[in-house]
Amino acid sequence: MSFSLIGTGSALPKTIQTNSDLTAFLDTSHDWILSRTGIESRHICIEESILDIALTASINALENAGIEPKDLDLIICPTLGGDTVTPSLACLVQEKLEATCPSFDISAACTGFIYGLDLADAYLSRDRNMKILIIAVDAMSKFIDWKDRSTAVLFGDGAGAAVVTAGTDLQSIHLTAVGNQHALCIPWPKGNHPGLIEKDLPLPYLNMDGAEVYRFAVAAICNDLRRVTRDAGIALEDLDFIIPHQANLRIIESAAKRLKLPMNKFVLRVKNQGNTSAASVPLVLDDLNRQGQLKPGMLIALTAFGGGLTTGACVLKWSKQA
Ligand code: ACO
Repeated sequence: MSFSLIGTGSALPKTIQTNSDLTAFLDTSHDWILSRTGIESRHICIEESILDIALTASINALENAGIEPKDLDLIICPTLGGDTVTPSLACLVQEKLEATCPSFDISAACTGFIYGLDLADAYLSRDRNMKILIIAVDAMSKFIDWKDRSTAVLFGDGAGAAVVTAGTDLQSIHLTAVGNQHALCIPWPKGNHPGLIEKDLPLPYLNMDGAEVYRFAVAAICNDLRRVTRDAGIALEDLDFIIPHQANLRIIESAAKRLKLPMNKFVLRVKNQGNTSAASVPLVLDDLNRQGQLKPGMLIALTAFGGGLTTGACVLKWSKQA
């Protein structure tokens, strides 16, 4: 089966936090962050709720697709969590859009958008008439311990969306998961039952073995891109654009070197967005789409990795007219 992307959208919160801003409360420096990650600034939800950015990205994607919320048959929201545990973020978006379709969240961390595309493809194999909104949203600023310099400098908030329906864009897709709590974990808040011993409860903040995730990420990008290009019957060199998860410039550079691909094939937004988790890939896709850089027939690979640990990649043959 296959699908086409008929519209994209995105949203970033207004507040921009530069590396220099972080030095006001963290023992870090602009030079350390830039040289280790390629990040200069990120957007943080201060004035906006998570729903606000999710909704803006969704409305942009629907307008770009030329369809109304009432035309939607499904809303899938890849996210680590919205403003509430329940309702799901997908249901909150559905209410604001005044759509009437089934809506649910999925959890695949930074790989969520590609997991969402694969799920949409499965739904479309059952009903080719469906129109599905995938809205990938993460506000990592809510999951960060802002006293931990080793993680606080890496992330930003954002939302990226796409409307998909039956079509011919998808050439190949591949997902993986390797359960691993040690490499990257965000513990759930444990509640306040009087029987729980507070000192034994983990804090609900992201903790990560940066070096382990780094090695995993480089291998994941290389293995997944080789796999999806082979499955699509094309060479890596045939790709017009590769949109990698924007976690760290050095990870992308290492993967490009290992794959013997020029860096100009990789589209980068990490410098001014940081790692926006599930939103990172669709934010870049929407930017390229709105700049008119995607032409019908172009071959685009998406590749991501994240908590779980999960990975995913796909090859798309773009069909949408600018
Ligand atoms: N500012 C200044 N110094 C710092 C900072 C900081 N923000 N953070 C760490 N340091 C220090 C460390 O304490 C350490 O000091 P020491 O040598 O005195 O012990 C030193 O810098 C080197 O630390 P390393 O961890 O070795 O730094 P490294 O070069 O490996 O970079 C980084 C760390 C950026 C986290 C890297 O490992 C990385 O990018 N890993 C992958 C992370 C990632 O992609 N995560 C997200 C993927 S999953 C998802 O998206 C949810």
